[in-house]
Amino acid sequence: MSRYLVTGGAGFVGSHAVLALLDRGHEVVVFDNLTQGHRAAVPAAATLVEADLADAARVAEVFATWRFDAVLHFAALSIVGASMRDPLHYIAENVAHSLNLANAAVRAGCLRFVLSSTAALFGDPDRVPIDEACRIAPSNPYGDSKRMVEEGLEWAARIHGLRYAALRYFNAAGSDPQGRAGEDHDPETHLVPLAIDAALGRRPALTVFGEDYATPDGTCLRDYVHVTDLAEAHLAALARLETHGSCRYNVGSGTGASVKDVIAAVERVGGRPVPHSIGPRRAGDPPVLVAASDRLRAETGWAPRYGALDDIVRTAWTWREAHPKGYADRG
Ligand SMILES: NC(=O)c1ccc[n+]([C@@H]2O[C@H](COP(=O)([O-])OP(=O)(O)OC[C@H]3O[C@@H](n4cnc5c(N)ncnc54)[C@H](O)[C@@H]3O)[C@@H](O)[C@H]2O)c1
Repeated sequence: MSRYLVTGGAGFVGSHAVLALLDRGHEVVVFDNLTQGHRAAVPAAATLVEADLADAARVAEVFATWRFDAVLHFAALSIVGASMRDPLHYIAENVAHSLNLANAAVRAGCLRFVLSSTAALFGDPDRVPIDEACRIAPSNPYGDSKRMVEEGLEWAARIHGLRYAALRYFNAAGSDPQGRAGEDHDPETHLVPLAIDAALGRRPALTVFGEDYATPDGTCLRDYVHVTDLAEAHLAALARLETHGSCRYNVGSGTGASVKDVIAAVERVGGRPVPHSIGPRRAGDPPVLVAASDRLRAETGWAPRYGALDDIVRTAWTWREAHPKGYADRG
């Protein structure tokens, strides 16, 4: 059994990673300020430290209280549009918190670190599918903040011997297949839950941002990776770090689904129409973002189990239908 510190473990992806760790019999301490996450998303078997990463003394106290085998760092500000409105805040928070956390880990002798990084590193990519050798050129402050964190970790690796894994997620979606966790953001900005809520009549019609892209149906193509598969990628990366140095992996299913494909999948799975209208393009949306995850697969043996779009939508639908108010339904 190992013990892990999971920042942001009350959030969407983090809570699924916590489940994956607990399912393997590991001990988990969640560090989360609950600004975006939910107390009810933290299983009773995990310890919740409700605190902010800006509180360096509290972070140090956590490392003094427990000895961790690794840190999994999910906590971040992650809404692209908000980062365009308030770039300095986004960069300051994401970079300072992440590097202070890594510093505390190094000082405590905890030398394994997994970072939630992002496909936003690649901006409008120079080629697709996007592998790790593609040009890093973020087109928004959110993506750039993650680039800066990756660079900081690289220096810690060279100088302090930190072993880190930077996992560049594409679009996380779906819910725990056992129904123990789901997606509950406020505001919600992700397509799958928005389309489901539109179908369930819980929000107004969905707006599709542009249907004149150079894609088969004119809408943007994205790579949806099931959140449980993403959680498993963290375990795979942790295992890799046992025996190898730092790594950077693009994590996706490797197939693109258009906005219209997602709408069709929600209608198929839910048996209800998704009310929607076509709006203008949204600034800064690249037409196609699809991951090449060959390196992750080859080096760790990771493979998505829930790669089919209908699996992603079905698990998300089941959770959202059962939890009309998200985690608020669970107290
Ligand atoms: N969801 C996606 O599709 C996606 C894609 C690419 C990258 N990512 C990255 O994955 C990570 C998790 O994403 P998510 O969708 O689960 O986000 P989320 O907002 O659901 O979870 C983030 C969690 O971090 C906590 N948090 C934020 N700031 C904190 C602070 N200062 N101190 C303590 N806790 C804090 C929040 O309360 C929340 O529980 C983020 O780093 C994000 O950038 C997500």
